[in-house]
Amino acid sequence: MPELISGTAVTNRNRTANMLKTQWYVCPLCGNVISAAGEGAFHCCGIALPPLVPEEPDDSHTISVECMDGEYFVRMEHPMTKSHYLSFFAAVTSERVTLVKLYPEQEPETRLPARGRGWLYACCNRHGLFRIPLPKR
Ligand SMILES: [Fe+2]
Repeated sequence: MPELISGTAVTNRNRTANMLKTQWYVCPLCGNVISAAGEGAFHCCGIALPPLVPEEPDDSHTISVECMDGEYFVRMEHPMTKSHYLSFFAAVTSERVTLVKLYPEQEPETRLPARGRGWLYACCNRHGLFRIPLPKR
């Protein structure tokens, strides 16, 4: 029904749910984060959420990653104020999505399990979604 209202038909060919094709939806009003194995029609706070399009990090959203003890230590030099902050980091491989939610006033860093190849995502509440390939372990 939401698809009919929005006028946008969603057709997924991702029926085996390769998590590397994960789509991200973030509500601009409440900050709700939705990850989906494929495209879908999602609404929050009365708004239809388009999938975020990940970009390569720019100079103010550079992601640093170190691999140690089977984990990635991920950090971004980025403001963590109430109006401008990183909303989450996520590691995505073919079979797993690991999301770590971040909050204002927190350090812009986390640890994520180092498991296989995939993508590392960082989401800024003002500037959107960034991603880099997960480095080799
Ligand atoms: Fe930002």
